[in-house]
Amino acid sequence: MPQALLVHGGAWNIPDELVESSLSGLRHALEIGRSRLDEGADALDVVETVVRALEEDPNFDAGRGSRLNRAGEVEMDASIMRGSDLQAGAVAAVERVRHPVSLARLVMERSPHVLLVGQGAGRFADEQGVERCRTEDLLVGAELERYRRVRAGETVLIREEFSPEGHGEEAQGPLGTVGAVALDARGRLAAATSTGGSQDKFPGRVGDSPVLGAGTWADDTSGAASATGWGEGILRVLLTHTVVDCIERGSAPEDAAREGLARLERVGGKGGVIVADRHGRRGIAFNTPRMARGWLDDEGEIHVAIEGEPR
Ligand code: GLY
Repeated sequence: MPQALLVHGGAWNIPDELVESSLSGLRHALEIGRSRLDEGADALDVVETVVRALEEDPNFDAGRGSRLNRAGEVEMDASIMRGSDLQAGAVAAVERVRHPVSLARLVMERSPHVLLVGQGAGRFADEQGVERCRTEDLLVGAELERYRRVRAGETVLIREEFSPEGHGEEAQGPLGTVGAVALDARGRLAAATSTGGSQDKFPGRVGDSPVLGAGTWADDTSGAASATGWGEGILRVLLTHTVVDCIERGSAPEDAAREGLARLERVGGKGGVIVADRHGRRGIAFNTPRMARGWLDDEGEIHVAIEGEPR
């Protein structure tokens, strides 16, 4: 039975100084995921473990490494979906949680709900004994410095640039959302996505990552996908559901990913998507200057890339 694992760490104008560290972060996450798959782990466990590794890596805008919103706080979104029964969990605009993807999984497994937001998601995290952290613990480098200065009164440091026009010309702030899709040896598919969202977003803004069918989708009968990029566009075309739907209608994953991107372009959207089908075939597409991405090939070898042709 074929296995598959693909990851992403964002589709945007990734600066040169982040290229090597992003590639090694993806490689590390794939190594962890490959070991889990080889041990016979469930696809859901694999995507959660891989996304946790990416949330821990400050090169990416998810978990540790998230960006500040316009209020100078960190609000994160995440979702996870199991393809066998279409069970899913998600959190949005949640604060001071080290691993939003694991909180999303708890929403799926230990609540009657699919999506919890804001303070309610935080309360659920406390009830479940989830590891909480300080906002400072999620910030690194210039973002931590910015946070401290904003707290000291320099609110002018927070830019009010988040706007519908702000996604233009691919050069907007970091969109280093992370995600993973996996097919395990028993033919189970899963997908997970996590993000700190767009820089200087309006407080309460929620992107595509926690919205099923937009940022994350998995269905064992067809495929699993995770999206990254400008959330407002991805939401409007339900990118991951669109891509998996194309597979269901007979497209190969590579074509399905491209068809999804064509739909995203209808709304002027910028981003990328990874997808695996139930046969372990892979697809990646993006329309940004760079996309941090990686996958296991049919022999289980790790590949990572940022430039050029999707794969
Ligand atoms: N794709 C992540 C976001 O827009 O929030």
